[in-house]
Amino acid sequence: MKVIMLGAPGAGKGTQAKRIASEYGIPHISTGDIFRANIKENTPLGMEAKSYMDKGQLVPDELTVRILLDRVAKDDCKNGYVLDGYPRTIPQAEVLDEAVAKFNEKIDYAINVDVPDENIINRMSGRRACVKCGATYHVKYMPPVKENVCDACGSELIIRDDDKPETVKNRLSVYHEQTAPLIEYYRNKGILKEVDGTKDIDVVFEDIKNILK
Ligand code: AP5
Repeated sequence: MKVIMLGAPGAGKGTQAKRIASEYGIPHISTGDIFRANIKENTPLGMEAKSYMDKGQLVPDELTVRILLDRVAKDDCKNGYVLDGYPRTIPQAEVLDEAVAKFNEKIDYAINVDVPDENIINRMSGRRACVKCGATYHVKYMPPVKENVCDACGSELIIRDDDKPETVKNRLSVYHEQTAPLIEYYRNKGILKEVDGTKDIDVVFEDIKNILK
């Protein structure tokens, strides 16, 4: 099963993608996580990506597409994957379609997690991410057992650099301009599914499971 998660920054794509991956035994692939891992390792890719991410801009398509195609070609993707944060532009979607068509395959579902902009800024200010394993929490909606400590690996939780309110506003405007047109793109392909991302995290996941049944 190949699933794409669509939605504004902070809509809950990552939260739900991790659950889908664990429920259906497929890898969770987040281009944002791949870039952040490269930033942490100080790789040339990481340094280039950081210059865009810190401003809330998209990393250029040519760089992003290469990384995604390398990742989905790996053995663990044979039975499918859930993509979180890719595609973000129509050209990225077209490259993905071509890549899967080469193997006579297709994307099964594009799930749009719908959350209005008003809720997003509030959510982002409460997000905390683990410095080591990348697990995400929310101080109010998904708190860790111990304040500022990752439940999964015991490391420190931090606020992501691009979660500052000014950067979030920019990410939202980039989303509306460059990424939201993908909703229509996948609707036209007949694989778009929509969920109300303002509901409780567990309820959103139940709605998604009903779609993927
Ligand atoms: P990326 O890491 O993909 O960030 P994003 O899409 O902006 O999404 P987020 O990770 O911020 O949010 P999310 O929807 O996953 O929400 P989450 O589940 O964490 O990308 C970062 C940057 O990398 C981009 O800006 C760009 O520069 C670059 N990049 C990445 N991919 C790219 C690409 N393909 N092309 C070009 N550039 C690319 O949830 C958010 C918070 O809300 C959490 O605290 C969570 O606990 C909480 N929450 C989740 N669901 C709920 C709920 N139902 N109710 C209450 N709280 C909830």
